[in-house]
Amino acid sequence: MQEINPHAPEFWERLSKASCDDSVNKKCLKPETWDKAAATYDDLEKCKDYQTQVTEIINILQQKNALDKKNVVADVACGTGTYAVRMAPFCKKVTCIDISKGMLEKLKEKTKRFAFNNIEVIRQDWLEYKVEEPFDMVFCSMTPLLRNTKTIKKIVDSSKRFIALVTWAGVRQNKLLNEMSKKILGKPMGQKGQDITVVFNYLYSLGLAPHLTFFTGCWERLRPAKSQAENLIWRLEMKRPLTEQEKDLVRNEIERLADKDGLVKTVTTVRTCFMFIDKQQAKGAFSCQ
Ligand SMILES: C[S@@+](CC[C@H](N)C(=O)[O-])C[C@H]1O[C@@H](n2cnc3c(N)ncnc32)[C@H](O)[C@@H]1O
Repeated sequence: MQEINPHAPEFWERLSKASCDDSVNKKCLKPETWDKAAATYDDLEKCKDYQTQVTEIINILQQKNALDKKNVVADVACGTGTYAVRMAPFCKKVTCIDISKGMLEKLKEKTKRFAFNNIEVIRQDWLEYKVEEPFDMVFCSMTPLLRNTKTIKKIVDSSKRFIALVTWAGVRQNKLLNEMSKKILGKPMGQKGQDITVVFNYLYSLGLAPHLTFFTGCWERLRPAKSQAENLIWRLEMKRPLTEQEKDLVRNEIERLADKDGLVKTVTTVRTCFMFIDKQQAKGAFSCQ
């Protein structure tokens, strides 16, 4: 039997492997999966609770001097750049890395619209990306990459000083999605491996001291019935491919919920966590005389 030592990174590496749903993981790490989501991904930016989260995270980063005109920041798995465009005005450069062409197209539109000249966009798998020079801060939010301790280690090693991570924290309930999941997959959507538990403890076992800020909220998305149905199908297909008949069932159910303008609202009850790390507080980085 292997030794149980929660202070050792290897313990969390093993736990992370054991607690992840591999089939979901494989799907979540494919660029095609995210290309499909790109068109409507930014709908969330209209949601008040989400805006509050993003604003508060940017405020904390400023208070901690992680955003500074001298600093070069990496946004790993940046998606459409929700955070990158908020960080860019306060730092020297933001290097945005993501595997999805669709997500990065959206980011490029924003970069152009706001005339940013300090956002670099790189389409590549984070685990294959060659870090030439460590960044002042590595930021990474809401990505399946955070289920993997290899990714987290690479983030830690790629940062000179600051690390900022955002991930789910035990609450992610979407009533409509759960109803559809029960009807089609026979059970509500699970969240295996999507939590701060391993992330926090792994970082701690590496000698780091993550500062935690929790956010709770209702993430509302109001979309035309057709696009709402396609999004729910996309979420369900994380578990397994749906048959055409099953997809039609979702489309019909969602169509029936449409208001007079043809719109359907979904609400996800969430608790998320923002982890901020300053390597100057790491074990061994400071001592008393
Ligand atoms: C839910 S989105 C989060 C986007 C953004 N960070 C945010 O908080 O809005 C997840 C992102 O992870 C990206 N991703 C997944 N696997 C990746 C990998 N191996 N390397 C880089 N990006 C990846 C996807 O393309 C997608 O844009």
